[in-house]
Amino acid sequence: MAKIIAIANQKGGVGKTTTAINLCAALGETQRRVLLIDLDPQGNATTGAGVDKNSHELTTCDVLLNACQTKEAIVSPEHVKFDVMPSNADLTAAEVQLMSIDGRERCLAEALSQVEANYDYIYIDCPPALNVLTLNAFVAANGVLIPMQCEYYALEGLSSLLQTIKQVQGSVNPRLAIEGILRTMFDGRNKLGHEVSNQLIEHFESRVYRTIIPRNVRLAEAPSFGQPIVYYDKSSRGSIAYLALAGEIIRREMASESARNAARSQTNSAGSASAARTSMDPSTVAQATTIQAQPNIASKANGEASHTDSAEREDKPAESSATQEAPPVS
Ligand SMILES: Nc1ncnc2c1ncn2[C@@H]1O[C@H](COP(=O)(O)OP(=O)(O)O)[C@@H](O)[C@H]1O
Ligand SMILES: [Mg+2]
Repeated sequence: MAKIIAIANQKGGVGKTTTAINLCAALGETQRRVLLIDLDPQGNATTGAGVDKNSHELTTCDVLLNACQTKEAIVSPEHVKFDVMPSNADLTAAEVQLMSIDGRERCLAEALSQVEANYDYIYIDCPPALNVLTLNAFVAANGVLIPMQCEYYALEGLSSLLQTIKQVQGSVNPRLAIEGILRTMFDGRNKLGHEVSNQLIEHFESRVYRTIIPRNVRLAEAPSFGQPIVYYDKSSRGSIAYLALAGEIIRREMASESARNAARSQTNSAGSASAARTSMDPSTVAQATTIQAQPNIASKANGEASHTDSAEREDKPAESSATQEAPPVS
């Protein structure tokens, strides 16, 4: 099943769309099956991925209003290695129509259940508002990736975003987690940038991605060519940073997967041990006793996922040269 991530921050211009396009492209380069859903009526993720937002009859709008099968609104552009569900200004109309639908917040979740199995990752580029569209993304997602620009007003509005996530967790979608905080458009020469970055780490700890996206003019240019940065200028700092982010996400995923497997195999051994005990084989009874004498193995293994992240943060240098050094404005 796909991991579904909403890329959200109700502030505009923080790098949501840039992250959506370039992270999908970077993950696509690693042979992951990726879908980018444009959930913003501006359709910037659509055009930035090289898809003409007005040439497709079926878009996210039709999917939300259940006017088509989900797969009918998905396109596979030839020049990139991910699929796109395009959007355009019609989505504004959908937003209004959704208001009169019962269960309006579940429309996207229900639609995605038709295609979830076809992907490893589904990223949703949210609009710059905590509206019914963003709510649909939060109900459909497993996690929220929050891009943050490390500047003076960055933290403003963060509490209402976190509050909304908490409300969704407490009601319609208990599995929703903060997947990660991503520092974007980072200018290492700016002292304030470092201060805000430190505050984020203090507050969110290992949930802040180690990868930092530097301010890089190539990232700003790429959308006008309809190309993700990995194709527009693969060796640029922006490209290296998004490839590093994809690598970090995959490693995190593998770490939590192996922690889950460890927990599962401990549970299984404990299960087979108790089954063996009923057959009264003395050696297995002894083994079972040993396993039972190690309490909380499963919960310890579960805890290792977050551990790995924080250990990684301290032990290893930056994900790439684009990340931890003070990146100059290019
Ligand atoms: N790392 C970056 N370096 C330089 N420009 C960037 C970077 N990230 C985004 N931009 C530019 O900043 C503007 C806002 O980014 P965008 O991704 O559209 O933000 P949002 O989707 O949050 O509104 C766009 O013009 C984009 O090209
Ligand atoms: Mg955007």
